[in-house]
Amino acid sequence: MSTSNTPLHRHYLHFSELPTSMRVMQTAVLIVLGLAYMFAALYLFHVYSGRDGNPNNLSYDDLVIAYTGSGKGSRLESALRGPMSSMLPPDELNVIVSWVQQGADKDKHESVVKPIIEKRCLSCHDGSNPHLASLNGLENLKKVTEQDTGTDIFTLVRVSHIHLFGLTFIFFLVGTIFSHAYWRPVWLKATIVALPFLCLSLDVISWYLVKLYHPFAFVTMAAGALQGLCFALMWVVSMYQLWFSGTPEAVMKRQGVDEISVG
Ligand code: HEC
Repeated sequence: MSTSNTPLHRHYLHFSELPTSMRVMQTAVLIVLGLAYMFAALYLFHVYSGRDGNPNNLSYDDLVIAYTGSGKGSRLESALRGPMSSMLPPDELNVIVSWVQQGADKDKHESVVKPIIEKRCLSCHDGSNPHLASLNGLENLKKVTEQDTGTDIFTLVRVSHIHLFGLTFIFFLVGTIFSHAYWRPVWLKATIVALPFLCLSLDVISWYLVKLYHPFAFVTMAAGALQGLCFALMWVVSMYQLWFSGTPEAVMKRQGVDEISVG
């Protein structure tokens, strides 16, 4: 089957057949969306790349930690095992850590934890220094005893709807512009237009699934990468055919002219 010489659809117009004003607008939209995509990528990198302790790349581990938590316990526990370990003797440290691991209940706080905190920690963490977490009282303490379980469902829901609405608009615009490019075979062109929408849906769904089964982070990564790839491809091809490649032969033949006037 020869798909490469599929005749032109009668409603198909190549960029070179469009009025100059429309081509200028398409170009402007592509430039601003390209910038936006770059900033989005930078932001993504900044927010996620350091989660696994290596800020130089965006890895599988970064995503798993972002969506499911580090599995390394609470901030209080990591502070006590890290920078705060010299503030109290080991037996008192163990009392606090096991209290946190057992759910940080109220009674035990009052009887054994509070006295230790008051003696060892409040000299700095009494709330008077806005840069230091206040450990004064159970309510403040709770803020650092919560387990790190990753991005919570409500945040995901919020980001999901923004993502789905926003990117649908973006890929609708870029896809509409790209539809004026000359590309054979047609099925491949149609696939490039449709793929971002499929990936977008898989991307968003995979955020929730990573929480259940970590390897879904590969779906998140692949879907994100494919969206970016399709965006870049449509961008480059459109820009090239808008201003640099001239009128394709098939379009010339239909027109029956050698030059197509622009206006
Ligand atoms: C001498 C002052 C001082 C004392 C005493 C002290 N801390 Fe800190 N603490 C700090 C400073 C400064 C920081 C912030 C620096 C940092 O993050 O390494 C901090 C950070 C923390 C953090 C926050 C870590 C994070 O994830 O942001 C926790 C939790 C903490 N301390 C718990 C404690 C506990 C529990 C005690 C008592 C056993 C204690 N600290 C005693 C000075 C103190």
